[in-house]
Amino acid sequence: MCGIIAYSGQRKALPILVAGLRRLEYRGYDSAGIALHRRGRFATWRAAGKLSQLEARLPAQSGAKCGMGHTRWATHGEATDSNAHPHHSPDGRIAIIHNGIIENATALRGALQADGAVFNSETDSEILAHLVAMHPADSLRDSVRLALRQVQGTYGLVVMDASRPGELVAARNGSPVIIGVGEREMFITSDANAILTHTREVVHLEDGELATVQARIFSIATMDESMISRPPVTLDHSPEALSRDGYDHYMLKEIEEQPEAIARTLGGRLDRQFGTAHLGGLNLSARELRDIRRVRFLGCGSAYYAGISGANMIESLARLPAASEPAAEFRYRNPVIENDTLYIAVSQSGETFDTLAAIREVRSRGGRVLGICNVVGSSIAREVDGGVFMHVGPEISVASTKAFSGMLACFMLLALQLGRIRDISPQRGDELVEAIGELPGLIRNALGESPRIREIAARYHGASSAFYIGRTDAYPVALEGAQKLKEISYVHAEAYPASELKHGPLALIDPDTPTLVVLPDNDLLDKSLSSLQEIRARRGPVIAVTNSGREDIHSLADDVICSPPCHPLLHPLVMNVGLQLFAYHTAVLMGRDVDQPRNLAKSVTVE
Ligand code: F6R
Repeated sequence: MCGIIAYSGQRKALPILVAGLRRLEYRGYDSAGIALHRRGRFATWRAAGKLSQLEARLPAQSGAKCGMGHTRWATHGEATDSNAHPHHSPDGRIAIIHNGIIENATALRGALQADGAVFNSETDSEILAHLVAMHPADSLRDSVRLALRQVQGTYGLVVMDASRPGELVAARNGSPVIIGVGEREMFITSDANAILTHTREVVHLEDGELATVQARIFSIATMDESMISRPPVTLDHSPEALSRDGYDHYMLKEIEEQPEAIARTLGGRLDRQFGTAHLGGLNLSARELRDIRRVRFLGCGSAYYAGISGANMIESLARLPAASEPAAEFRYRNPVIENDTLYIAVSQSGETFDTLAAIREVRSRGGRVLGICNVVGSSIAREVDGGVFMHVGPEISVASTKAFSGMLACFMLLALQLGRIRDISPQRGDELVEAIGELPGLIRNALGESPRIREIAARYHGASSAFYIGRTDAYPVALEGAQKLKEISYVHAEAYPASELKHGPLALIDPDTPTLVVLPDNDLLDKSLSSLQEIRARRGPVIAVTNSGREDIHSLADDVICSPPCHPLLHPLVMNVGLQLFAYHTAVLMGRDVDQPRNLAKSVTVE
């Protein structure tokens, strides 16, 4: 989604802003722009399309030491040059970049037009520039504050005033804003990854706060003018984690680094002495954990699918009713919130608007919400009552891979901890600790199949449609496998519980439609093989994805993606690795833009 980068300091701003925009690219965007503050006026460049199109218009150099840049993901108005940010007030004095959506934009625009205002774009953001210019005050922050009092909606924004050299004003409501504190220089961004090469000292703005930022100083105040003192915190990831490290794509790098990433997720959390797991951040005593009667996972997209797997694990190990629900559906259906239900928001980015809104809905009704997040300091991590960080490192590719695995690893730990408190014997706990500890090695083995999976992908990449099926534990694996394929290859892919096949989708099986059948080695294997037979009987090609040693699978299926045998609790995570690779190789063979697939954004910060 949209990205913000702004700079005030001693160095030339232009290359810093361009590099910052590059770091924001992975979030998804369709236009970009930069405004530099120089000698009492702004120089502004904007371009629809990729950053290279903006760069072609930029000067080779500029002496400006203050400026801001933006990547826009179109919401109000198409991706055109004129809709790209920064936007200006009619007199050119105010420049603004904005993430979020102004909900009363139509009414505000109408009122301004009735007074003679002329707009140069179709965006809601340009209205903000008009409003700020219409409220002269002692400080730019006061002008912004007065303007924002008229606004309903979400924003993370930065404003500059041509008559105030070196000064940036930022404000936040529902869309992240981070101040980066450097040596005689300051940054403002919506994503810490954009400034990591310059500083790891950051201050997160909270909703309803505004900040004035200059090269050596910043101050924060609320909308009702109370001053806030907040020291910077140090981010723990290094800029090296953001490099592609010689890989063709971030997605492949992120798939391949899963053994180390998951080792970090597990690090220090498995207790071999008591056969359990310890998730310190839950902020719940053993007694409080025992009093939980239900668990509900809330997330979007892959995080929702991961939650289905998490619910299965909790039901199986802790014998608690558990379910996963898309966060936006949950919040709009007037859900019953119960004291003894544990709500768990699941999000890689920690910024997904719908998940954040679901958390607020639960909390406003007195419910307790934990978070499972990857990004430390993210909005969700800061709003929940406790939780678990995945620690899988920054995920840059739009398609989630190592974070999905990180979610599943966190659920295993949580299910084990809850299970040991309620239902699981020390001996079984030991067995589970042992099994979970093997995850990194098992993932490494699964990755070893990559060359073979590439060959299989090469046989099917002409198909325009594919099915993924699996039963119970294998169903979320099928959902996530289909999600990966459609996201990055644009091949229509659908997942069904294998048992549902003959209740509808079987009508679509034909020789051109491959079905990936997820076949874990469990009691349901024979039943799943019946589904496979039904597909074969309709001449549908079958790719079996299995960790079973059964020979007949190889004769029944056209192709087999092999996964290492492991404890049943680990099946979804380990078997999913083969499907990540299948989607990746298919997309590469089809020449797709793997890391930045069309229409998608890394973190969806609007409703
Ligand atoms: C899938 C994908 C999306 C995200 C979803 C939630 O590859 O990237 O479906 O899983 O947008 O994002 P987070 O986890 O950041 O809340």
